[in-house]
Amino acid sequence: MSRNRIADLTRRSLLRGAAGLAGAAVLPRQVMANPDFKLIPKPAKVKLVDKSNPDTAVWAYNELTPGPPIRVRQGDRLKIPVENQLAEETTVHFHGIRLPNAMDGVPHLTQTPIAPGGEFVYEFVVHDAGTYWYHPHQNSAEQVGRGLCGALIVEEREPIRVDRDVAWLLQDWRLQPDAQISNDFRNMHDMAHNGRVGNTVTVNGSVRETFAVRSGERIRLRLINGANARVFGLTFAGHRPRVIALDGQPVEPHEPSDGRVVLAPAMRMDLILDMAAKPGERFQVVDNFYRGLTYRLIDLVYADTPYRDHIPDTPIALAPNTMPEPDLNSAQRHEVTFNGGMMGGMGGMNMRDMMHSGKIWFINGVAMLGHVMDPMLTLARGRSYVLTMKNETAWWHPMHLHGHAFRVISRNGAPTRYREWQDTVLMAPRETVEVAFVADNPGDWMFHCHILEHQESGMMGVIRVT
Ligand code: C2O
Ligand code: CU
Repeated sequence: MSRNRIADLTRRSLLRGAAGLAGAAVLPRQVMANPDFKLIPKPAKVKLVDKSNPDTAVWAYNELTPGPPIRVRQGDRLKIPVENQLAEETTVHFHGIRLPNAMDGVPHLTQTPIAPGGEFVYEFVVHDAGTYWYHPHQNSAEQVGRGLCGALIVEEREPIRVDRDVAWLLQDWRLQPDAQISNDFRNMHDMAHNGRVGNTVTVNGSVRETFAVRSGERIRLRLINGANARVFGLTFAGHRPRVIALDGQPVEPHEPSDGRVVLAPAMRMDLILDMAAKPGERFQVVDNFYRGLTYRLIDLVYADTPYRDHIPDTPIALAPNTMPEPDLNSAQRHEVTFNGGMMGGMGGMNMRDMMHSGKIWFINGVAMLGHVMDPMLTLARGRSYVLTMKNETAWWHPMHLHGHAFRVISRNGAPTRYREWQDTVLMAPRETVEVAFVADNPGDWMFHCHILEHQESGMMGVIRVT
């Protein structure tokens, strides 16, 4: 029992806290500047809950969950070797990045999965700025559910002026009383209902009580939902966050409707948070998305001394990214219908058959198991498309398309106000959503629900661009 050990632990947790919360701008640069940087997924033990609880056995990148934040500049070329130290195959998918198909990290479809002990080098240019993230695409409900994910932040060439640029990667864990991860992955109940919603939410890898702020500060808060299934609906008491980017893509700055920030799995949202309250004050950030499951995520705690006496009135709108604009007049239209799940009904199939086959969710009548199948749609490269997506189920689904971003142009027939670019769009039960995009990136791309239990029980397809 040495004093050193305690000192080391303390330093390590301090570093980890700094990387995640306050010093997001410092550590990650070093990560990428380090020529030996590698992502190493492997088992690890971490302190997720408070000190009175034992460490939790997780799967983590470089022994961190979330993994090391990767922070680069728009236009940079990234080279990220991944060395698999798990006991099973894995891949890394850089969610939301418009990269070449061979770098997309989809097992069997775009690459051979990385065997235990094996290595794969991902290399691509980041054309667009914004908030992204990385996670495995192999056995993803379990690999993400055990802790594998990390932030990928691409800075604008000319960033907006803020006092602090902070990322909160939100994870949702299903822990037992001994703080260990419950092993009930892929159970039928989760798959047929709203997925693996857990019981412990962490911000940058631990349950946090407070987030320290100062009066007069302007914070850019990048929210990333790294949960398997939990949708967040966050309210910031006493504050009026403004949304400046969705899924990394700039949007006209606006307050979210009802002041509530709704973030489904895999979605990101960049907020401008002006800290306009008085020194010493304290406010709750509450998640009230699921009825009856409201809890306090974290408290904003104002320091006793102000940062400055007023918040600067500098512009907060971000410069646009590089997506080509879809031409709605010439766009070809396709319908995509989602069925299945409890209370969803799927033609002649009853729930018992669905459970038995593992096919619970259907896209245009097909449930895809595994990552390889004939494309559900084949699109001509360079052409504009509108997908009319109909959610005929009783559940929420965040639908994600790889390799592209799309504009969300209507909901239930009404044009959207901001025509937002997204790569993951949350559909309410029975909702119809239209998205438009130019199919400009050749290859076979996954299109799936990002509730990972839905994805693994059929809610997935391949869209081919040739
Ligand atoms: Cu976040 Cu198919 O990916
Ligand atoms: Cu779903």
